[in-house]
Amino acid sequence: MSTATKLSEFARDTLTGLTAKQKFLHPKYFYDDNGSRIFQKIMRMPEYYLTDSELEIFSDQTNEISKAIAENNDFFDIIELGPGDGLKSGILLKSMIESKFDFTYIPVDISRQALHGLVKKLSAELPELPVHEAAGDYFHVMHDLRQRNGKPKVILFLGSNIGNFTEKERIDFLQQLSNITAPGDKLLLGADLKKPPEVIINAYDDPHGYTRDFNLNHLTRINRELDADFQTDNFVHHASYDPMSGAAKSYLVSKKPQKVNLGVTGTEIPFRQWESIFMELSQKFDPDDLEKMAMEAGFILKKNFTDRKNYFADSLWERK
Ligand code: AVI
Repeated sequence: MSTATKLSEFARDTLTGLTAKQKFLHPKYFYDDNGSRIFQKIMRMPEYYLTDSELEIFSDQTNEISKAIAENNDFFDIIELGPGDGLKSGILLKSMIESKFDFTYIPVDISRQALHGLVKKLSAELPELPVHEAAGDYFHVMHDLRQRNGKPKVILFLGSNIGNFTEKERIDFLQQLSNITAPGDKLLLGADLKKPPEVIINAYDDPHGYTRDFNLNHLTRINRELDADFQTDNFVHHASYDPMSGAAKSYLVSKKPQKVNLGVTGTEIPFRQWESIFMELSQKFDPDDLEKMAMEAGFILKKNFTDRKNYFADSLWERK
């Protein structure tokens, strides 16, 4: 067996990213225990407007959203992809129980532990909520559900997670959702909107340094899990926003020429002075982008629920 086939997926993805012409790392690896803790701090800081904006939408428009979701359906499954702490969806679920809608809530997450924690919390807060935990890959779980019960589906994909996909990943993801849903099924998609550039820059280059720590923690994870020797002091965090494309990007930039030993991969990674690692895309959209994305994936955009400042949209789509 060659060395490459023995490496973990994390090692292989890291090696691919750091040997590419433009170095990059995959954002899914931000979230080890420490990364998840730092992300909680990011979500709570005032500069990270996304949290408050989406919470405002769910708090102020609960009834409108739940009615629009349940329209034309006597019974259905609500499938939430990557529910996190369930704070926003909890508001919606409470209102749906009060309105006596006939539904089952199915949170889907790769982490069984995260799911247990969420379900425990929800069961305490909403004892009447019918919940079915589904640990695993989003598409496998949804495919199985469709095979098993054929019920109408309402999919929640909140929190601007769609913004962390590259354009190709985004199109593939929405196309796959389209393939495993049926006409009339719905998707509520959380999407961050274009806004004054300085507001976006402040959210991703915050004065507390949490976003910097979040990015540097990715290197620390590589050191620990892949036995590498990144010196985090040798990198600076940089955030940019392009108002034309809506791309907010973050980078770690090498302060000096250096070589990093990528431990288990047996590879040395050279850095030129001021060479960057592309860490993450956080795409911002305008309403036309959302309409176009929906159409191209075989959905119709029914309504954008937005906050008062128009910073964020929870976009309700229906499968054609
Ligand atoms: C998870 N995701 C929607 C966050 C975002 O805004 O792109 C991740 C994040 N990265 C830095 N700050 C927040």
